[in-house]
Amino acid sequence: MPHLIRSCEGLITYLFQGIYDIQSSVVILPMNEITITRPDDWHAHFRDNELLKETVSASARQFSRSIVMPNLTPPVVNAKMAKAYEARILAARPEGSDFTPLVTLYLTNVTTTDDIKDAKEQGILAAKLYPAGATTNSSSGVNDIEKMYPVFEVMAKNKMLLLIHGEVTDGEIDIFDREKVFIERYLEDIVKSFPDLKVVLEHITTKDAVDFVKGSSPNVAATLTPQHLMLNRNDLLVGGVKPHYYCLPILKRNTHQKALREAVISGSTKFFLGTDSAPHMKDQKESACGCAGCYSAPAALELYTQVFDELNALDKLEGFTSHHGADFYGLPRNTQKVTLVREAWTIPNELEVVGSRVIVPFWAGNKVTWRLK
Ligand code: DOR
Ligand code: ZN
Repeated sequence: MPHLIRSCEGLITYLFQGIYDIQSSVVILPMNEITITRPDDWHAHFRDNELLKETVSASARQFSRSIVMPNLTPPVVNAKMAKAYEARILAARPEGSDFTPLVTLYLTNVTTTDDIKDAKEQGILAAKLYPAGATTNSSSGVNDIEKMYPVFEVMAKNKMLLLIHGEVTDGEIDIFDREKVFIERYLEDIVKSFPDLKVVLEHITTKDAVDFVKGSSPNVAATLTPQHLMLNRNDLLVGGVKPHYYCLPILKRNTHQKALREAVISGSTKFFLGTDSAPHMKDQKESACGCAGCYSAPAALELYTQVFDELNALDKLEGFTSHHGADFYGLPRNTQKVTLVREAWTIPNELEVVGSRVIVPFWAGNKVTWRLK
């Protein structure tokens, strides 16, 4: 039996279209179907109210759980607001769905240690640090990160995870360097000062972030988005600006993209799925001052599968999508399975969401080579 099949036994079902080369034991035709533990999304934006029907259904189609970002207007700054938001999400689930939203707290300059303890008592697992002004709805974020240290200390004691948007907002710093500078200026000290604090560096975009996470303690991990794995800044800018590829942190040069792609297929348990799916209306993206965010939820799992397939690393997909995140959060792995088949389809150009308003999903009009059964 070829080693490729034997090593994955019990984890993944491989169905081969044809034959393999017996002499070299190397599989020469690709697998056409893959069954993995149902995945989770460790970073998603659902927004609120009338948009929830769209966003929650899209995520529930693929994922069992999603860490839901708190950057609403107004932001979700305490347990009471978080539980109310959770109830609105639960009410928006498709009928019969057992999808679980994991709501989070938004840290501000005035977050207290009591806010953290209260949130922990209410079952909230994580709080999000947005440097003020770093991204969408982050104006209530934190201005002085060191002033948050008493809050981080209580988070560590209460085993609440710190989720970080890792970019400086200093106008002097080039937008392409903001993640690297954040790591040097703030993150190194945060992880050194709070070795027991679990930290997720969200939506990483650089080799610097990959190296930092790899070199840190097991309490430091990172999420990676489909767009940062699939694209680089040439895709965003060459031949005309593509507003639907604009997100924050911004896409970087191809050497960084390569480092991200290598990280996810390395098998390291420090890297896991977080889509950063972030819907904005079409007119707000295609504007003189376009919003940052890619609405990837409708096809996220298929797109990740496509990337792993391109990298000949489908055997590493399940760890990334379905094991590493749950293990890092200290939650049970899902027991259900999902199956993807090799079947090309095209992502719709637009989705009608609220009245006649539309969202352009990520990878709109393009082919995806895998489909969730
Ligand atoms: O591109 C982004 N969009 N990055 C973020 O960090 C936030 C998100 C949003 O909420 O739109
Ligand atoms: Zn985000």
